[in-house]
Amino acid sequence: MNLILGVPKEIIGGEKRVGIVPESLAKLTSLGFEIRVEKDAGKEAGFLDSDYEAHGAKIVSGAQELYSTADVIVKVERPEQHPEGGKHELEMMKKGALLVCFMAPLNFPELSKKAAQTGVDVLSMNDIPRITRAQRMDALSSQTNLAGYKAVLLGANALRKIFPLLMTAAGTISPAKVVILGAGVAGLQAIATARRLGAVVEVSDVRPAVKEQVESLGGKYIEPPQDETLEGEGGYAKEASEEYLKKQQELLKKHISEADVVVTTAQVPGKKAPVLISEETVKSMRPGSVIVDMAAGTGGNCAITEAGKEVEKHGVRIIGETNIISLVAYNASQLYSRNVLALLQSLTKEGQVVLDLEDEIVKGALITREGQVIHENTKKLLGE
Ligand code: NAI
Repeated sequence: MNLILGVPKEIIGGEKRVGIVPESLAKLTSLGFEIRVEKDAGKEAGFLDSDYEAHGAKIVSGAQELYSTADVIVKVERPEQHPEGGKHELEMMKKGALLVCFMAPLNFPELSKKAAQTGVDVLSMNDIPRITRAQRMDALSSQTNLAGYKAVLLGANALRKIFPLLMTAAGTISPAKVVILGAGVAGLQAIATARRLGAVVEVSDVRPAVKEQVESLGGKYIEPPQDETLEGEGGYAKEASEEYLKKQQELLKKHISEADVVVTTAQVPGKKAPVLISEETVKSMRPGSVIVDMAAGTGGNCAITEAGKEVEKHGVRIIGETNIISLVAYNASQLYSRNVLALLQSLTKEGQVVLDLEDEIVKGALITREGQVIHENTKKLLGE
């Protein structure tokens, strides 16, 4: 019998993405899955039920029916209490079913415990190892890349100036100055986007290795405070000390006070985002300037960002939108769906999903199995 793969409608407020898009269905079917999609699951992202049906999916009208029959559920967001019927999504699923989603186990370890208790195996898209073989499955990169693009557009739209240098019969308009904090996946896309729009771009990151990448995209690299290296494991940044952050805030103040738009993307995996812009620095900015704080959801890179809100403080517009990615839900769903498809292609053998713990990808991303939390770092957080 074919495994049933269910695609539910997302329930977390503001989430417009969908886990699987119609273009992935033919390949999933050839892997041996029968696809069922909850009614209107893709609507907010721009994918209609009729598109899914045309690609061979069956549309299911209620969430409960979908959850109780699916062997594999593909979602974007972590599971939650379902508004329909009041049960938790994990409790609506079949025992022994597999859930693929952004589980964020290091931020929500208790949720993984609940998944284990309900007998749901979870593959977390946050935890796909960043190895060459898994690049096609790297949903963190595919999503933050798009969010970096959109963040610049939000900044450009909120600014009362244009980005490019413009020579007109009435004289010249000088280009906008954009400062980007953090040059990881989101930051690099933000640099490229701001440059394409014609801004002058300055960039800060604590990993000196990014200097060359910043310069190749046409950005100017702001050298970090020198006395400590913050290049951590796997190319990620380490958490900076209070003292280091103070020095960095001082260093950045001059650049930020001259900026028209600041896009902040700095993150340290599993930690609160570093505060790089103090309230004092915001006060030093010109009225009408804009900060787009992409780290708003993890505490914010600016001390006075309000998560989920757009506010004006000291004459500066501070955008704390926490789900920028949903503003580009069509392409974000498309790339996410391709990431999940690549993962399932690597795990499916003769119509069955095989979770081999010897496989580096499974070992990194499988959080629960057969009633147990097996992910080491999650276990540590749970004190197990
Ligand atoms: P992230 O989202 O964890 O962090 C974003 C950026 O913030 C990083 O560049 C980090 O250095 C920077 N940052 C942290 N603290 C800062 C501070 N105090 N001031 C300024 N900047 C600060 O990182 P992301 O974007 O998920 O990935 C970063 C790393 O992962 C890079 O080395 C990248 O090359 C690597 N990577 C590897 C992939 C692969 O091999 N498949 C795929 C994607 C990323």
